[in-house]
Amino acid sequence: MRNWVLITGCSTGIGRALVPLCRLAGWGVVATARRLEDLADLPSGEDLRVLALDVTDGDSVAAAAAACADLRLKALVNNAGYGQVGPLELLRPEELRTQFETNVIGLHRVTNAFLPLLRREPGARIVQVASMLGRLSIPLAGAYNASKHAVVALAETLRLEVGREVAVILVEPGAIRTAFRETLARVWGDLPERAQGTPYEQVVAKHLQVRKERAERFALDAEPCARQIVNALNAGRPPRRVVIGKDAFWAAKLKALLPAAWWEWFLRRSYRMD
Ligand SMILES: NC(=O)c1ccc[n+]([C@@H]2O[C@H](COP(=O)([O-])OP(=O)(O)OC[C@H]3O[C@@H](n4cnc5c(N)ncnc54)[C@H](OP(=O)(O)O)[C@@H]3O)[C@@H](O)[C@H]2O)c1
Repeated sequence: MRNWVLITGCSTGIGRALVPLCRLAGWGVVATARRLEDLADLPSGEDLRVLALDVTDGDSVAAAAAACADLRLKALVNNAGYGQVGPLELLRPEELRTQFETNVIGLHRVTNAFLPLLRREPGARIVQVASMLGRLSIPLAGAYNASKHAVVALAETLRLEVGREVAVILVEPGAIRTAFRETLARVWGDLPERAQGTPYEQVVAKHLQVRKERAERFALDAEPCARQIVNALNAGRPPRRVVIGKDAFWAAKLKALLPAAWWEWFLRRSYRMD
């Protein structure tokens, strides 16, 4: 009997890179995505099950959990997520709510739906994909920063509550080369028009380019990132935190070491806020 892992958000990026790597490591994979057609090109096999799963839809999550009841589900990777861009002063409450619906409440919903299945398996583990922005905040990403800080808090609390039965692994990547940055541009909607004539006009106009430049400088490909997640899934003693990428490692160190005023100066400068 093989062990199975369920992964959310397998249409692209880190989730997609995880599917072949987990299969190669001997896991059966339940690959999930909002649209099943996004998974149609995955090579079929006895070690693959594909399911539609939208983390914001309770029925879809419950149906996915029911469809896994016959498996030895030993791991869950809560990977689905996206980034909402916008200065807080221009951020609509519904944009903040939608960001939390996916990144935080969706992750919580999926975790709770699958915990009863995971509990049946000794050595089971949950991977919560947060971000380096769960430990520090950058400008114009307040909604995303807040959502990933919430993921860190939820994971640390969950570990205190269920950690003896199910290990909780926090994954904190820096910049990774995926569809993430294209999605930033898609979901910011009418932000550039909203910013016109406000103090944010210039900074909003430059923001995606700045994020792209920084990502090009520091970003890892999705595959090496996914490989580190697979190592955590396979580890005899699962790690509590997996910090992925030099940018994530050094940014956390700098924030801890620098006086707050210097750190803020550094961030404002890096994101061309002045
Ligand atoms: N890329 C980075 O630099 C980076 C850095 C740190 C952390 N992360 C985190 O890593 C995770 C994966 O992101 P990625 O970089 O691989 O980006 P990506 O290529 O954009 O993949 C995001 C995945 O999440 C899915 N998703 C979004 N909303 C969903 C929903 N409501 N239900 C189910 N799936 C949903 C997307 O599906 P659709 O195709 O249907 O939209 C897609 O499969 C995210 O949690 C992200 O916050 C990324």
